[in-house]
Amino acid sequence: MHVAVHQDDPAFDGDMNFRTRRWVRPEDLNANGTLFGGSLLRWIDEEAAIYAIVQLGNHRVVTKLISEINFVSSARQGDLIEMGLRATAFGRTSITMRAEVRNMISRKSILTIEKLVFVSLDERGAPVPHGFTEITYQRDRIPTEREFRQG
Ligand SMILES: CC(C)(COP(=O)(O)OP(=O)(O)OC[C@H]1O[C@@H](n2cnc3c(N)ncnc32)[C@H](O)[C@@H]1OP(=O)(O)O)[C@@H](O)C(=O)NCCC(=O)NCCS
Repeated sequence: MHVAVHQDDPAFDGDMNFRTRRWVRPEDLNANGTLFGGSLLRWIDEEAAIYAIVQLGNHRVVTKLISEINFVSSARQGDLIEMGLRATAFGRTSITMRAEVRNMISRKSILTIEKLVFVSLDERGAPVPHGFTEITYQRDRIPTEREFRQG
């Protein structure tokens, strides 16, 4: 099911929610002196996991698919960048998102990913229906209790 855009969300810009900002540090650079793609993907995957947890009300979500990644332009040390995500479809056990990373000041696009699919799992690691069809702009779905395992 495709999702309607919510115009009242404070982090809303165009069709994206840009929530997380990062400062490009020396340890995030490649041999060319620009932002290392691997760092960017790690940040996006984590951001998308948090987004999926908030939307699906389950801490146990995993990355199923990341579609073609387009590194549109580079970022340099000291640049401020921001990451945007938006749910584009809710499946039975999955959620599909679109991602964009851009320069916070110039708003120039750094990366786009058309599809990131995350799947909601039960305690045995099997896909479990999440029951949602719409984006939430609150924190109303996050479970207040969660199990912690040691070891
Ligand atoms: C996630 C996992 C449990 C899904 O198992 P599966 O056998 O594919 O399960 P299903 O066929 O029931 O699919 C589950 C959901 O994923 C979706 N899906 C499966 N393969 C897909 C693909 N290639 N592209 C997009 N969506 C896909 C299905 O459509 C389904 O969504 P829906 O219920 O909303 O329709 C399994 O693939 C897995 O454990 N993968 C490893 C996940 C992981 O460790 N990620 C971390 C990255 S290192």
